[in-house]
Amino acid sequence: MRKKIVAGNWKMNMDLNEGLALAEAINSHYAVNPPDGKEVIICTPFIHLGMLSKLITASGVSFGAQNCNDHRSGAYTGEISAAMIKSTGAGSVILGHSERRTLYGETDELLAAKTAEALRNGLRVIFCCGEVLAEREGNNHFGVVRRQLEKGLFTLTTEDFVKCIIAYEPVWAIGTGVTASPAQAQEMHAFIRQLIEGRYGGEVAAETTILYGGSCKASNAAELFANPDVDGGLIGGASLIKEEFCNIVSAL
Ligand code: 13P
Repeated sequence: MRKKIVAGNWKMNMDLNEGLALAEAINSHYAVNPPDGKEVIICTPFIHLGMLSKLITASGVSFGAQNCNDHRSGAYTGEISAAMIKSTGAGSVILGHSERRTLYGETDELLAAKTAEALRNGLRVIFCCGEVLAEREGNNHFGVVRRQLEKGLFTLTTEDFVKCIIAYEPVWAIGTGVTASPAQAQEMHAFIRQLIEGRYGGEVAAETTILYGGSCKASNAAELFANPDVDGGLIGGASLIKEEFCNIVSAL
């Protein structure tokens, strides 16, 4: 049975004290109410990571980063390596988020290199894909997601691929308040699972967790998660409010 996961992507929010307080509140909640076989991941800014391994103690809860560099170490001023992230006790890293693709020009090839480096260091990768509005309106959304996965992720061996989680995040739904309809989410998730089956076989496809992201909140999470191929969510804005985030986990 594939894992059911809700991951929070804090993006560039929360200073050190605010972030530790939020992490602590989430941890205390799950220390008392275990997430019941589901997994909860909080992906924070780098500044929090070093302090989270002492703070996150509840079983089923873990933490991760939102980006890493593709090189091992060296003269890359301002960058953070996968090995550094791993050394904090973090378990995962988000790669390929549309904000990084668009604002920082991250290409499919760079993402393939980052993914390989993250896996080499024992991190799980939450690999994001998704189309912009014009691509959907031009009926290119399947083609775009196929390209992103084939070039950025399907370069992996099966052994490495099974350590990845995929997040489908239609760019037009991110931070806009407009979610994909449950039918649109299911259609794309089923398509992604078919692509995985084509590349890695049916067994791997059935075991791959595929998250939905884009204006997911407590009020719409249940209908999105009710779809057979939607295995949880990658949550932006709503992951910054403890109650809201925990209610989304409960909806799964
Ligand atoms: P919102 O939930 O704020 O739309 O962001 C989604 C997202 O980008 C998660 O990675």
